[in-house]
Amino acid sequence: MIQPGRFITFEGIDGAGKSTQIAASIDWVRAHGHEVVQSREPGGTALGEKLRALLLHESMHLETEALLMFAARREHLAEIIEPALARGAWVVCDRFSDATFAYQSGGRGLAEAKFRALEDWVHPDLQPDLTFLFDLPPAIAAQRLASGREQADRFEREQRDFFERVRNAYLQRARSSNGRIAVIDSARDPQAICADVLECLEQRFS
Ligand code: TYD
Repeated sequence: MIQPGRFITFEGIDGAGKSTQIAASIDWVRAHGHEVVQSREPGGTALGEKLRALLLHESMHLETEALLMFAARREHLAEIIEPALARGAWVVCDRFSDATFAYQSGGRGLAEAKFRALEDWVHPDLQPDLTFLFDLPPAIAAQRLASGREQADRFEREQRDFFERVRNAYLQRARSSNGRIAVIDSARDPQAICADVLECLEQRFS
């Protein structure tokens, strides 16, 4: 696929503090004169948001969960991501396929090969240009979630060892990403994290 735009994704365990950094990154991209499309997964389209509601709140078989993540992604790519990149917009997305490798393979324990096959089916030629991985110990993330949320979803209700596995899967994926995934130490205050994010954007894209 011809890709004149740029595709930036944000990852991390629940409670890692992505939202503030997504907002700062969008400001940076706009300040550099580019159209920005902000989106999220699961979701981003009318159908995808319906699938998101099911994924976050209905109990289901582990493989149904995994397949629905990629079904929502297929729709998201066709409706939002691919058209935006093709017209030169930058897409800033809260989670993408790295999340499926981390949560459904690392966290749930499904074989990674299944996800490589799905990735090869759904987006064989597209990877994010840059992915921020907001990394922090699950114990700290849990404290942050507890202070900010009224009602936990299916993922947020998982135990500490689930998030340890998700975190390790993310870090493993970062190590084999040839620099695509930038690991940001997110146990620090938001200003320090933001400074790293903006410096990384400058280095990669200016
Ligand atoms: P997120 O939007 O970060 O949660 P919130 O709005 O509650 O901050 O992500 C929703 C949840 O979906 C999150 O717990 C991770 C999970 N998820 C997966 O398990 N696999 C995936 O492929 C994606 C995209 C998300």
